[in-house]
Amino acid sequence: MRLDKLLSEVGLCSRTESKKAARAGKITVDGITVKTTDIHVDPEKSIITYMGIPVEYKKFTYIMLNKPDGYISATDDKKEHTVLELLDERTQKLGLFPCGRLDKNTLGLLILTNNGELCHRLLSPKHHVEKVYFFRAERCITDEDQRRLESGVNLDGVVTKPAKLELCDDRMSGYLTITEGKFHQVKRMLEAVCNKVTYLERVKFAGIPLDTSLSRGEWRRLTVDEEAHLESFLK
Ligand code: URA
Repeated sequence: MRLDKLLSEVGLCSRTESKKAARAGKITVDGITVKTTDIHVDPEKSIITYMGIPVEYKKFTYIMLNKPDGYISATDDKKEHTVLELLDERTQKLGLFPCGRLDKNTLGLLILTNNGELCHRLLSPKHHVEKVYFFRAERCITDEDQRRLESGVNLDGVVTKPAKLELCDDRMSGYLTITEGKFHQVKRMLEAVCNKVTYLERVKFAGIPLDTSLSRGEWRRLTVDEEAHLESFLK
């Protein structure tokens, strides 16, 4: 891989900036100062420093975001604020996109990555990846509503796959686990039993729980274990 490409992919600097830094003697490859960045390096093997800092190359980046209200799950938009805006400038340059969508007013766990293959796998209805939502509803959920929500309700002619519902004591809130990602699915499922979602938050995705130490709008990289867990879906 070209050195200038690598430095821009890890979000350290633009290609033009890297050329200037090389001319100024601020980049080393395997201990040798390089004067140009249009050279090829092996990102997995070469030891590269930029401004004295070791460059950590990772093919893919995974981020856990605690999505706040009012942001759309998109990479750019002319009118709305996007979840990408919540990342710092350097991280924004990594080519990340949200793995799936949360509505503008849905909160909680959103994974951002630049691993398109994995994202596709996690979202494919074939693979039944679980998503857990905490919701509050306008009215109490009866035993019959629960049975219908769990066995499948009809959304525009298509019956939802089996779901799991754990109700809280008030019976107006609970945790719904689904394995699909239909448009507004949780809200529409509740509407199908003549109810209405008043609050929605994703608390778990593909077995990874939302890190509750993250405030709304905060994010962090996935841990090594979380990354390995997600990547295991490709095996
Ligand atoms: N279901 C919804 O209705 N909205 C979301 O954002 C996610 C799941």
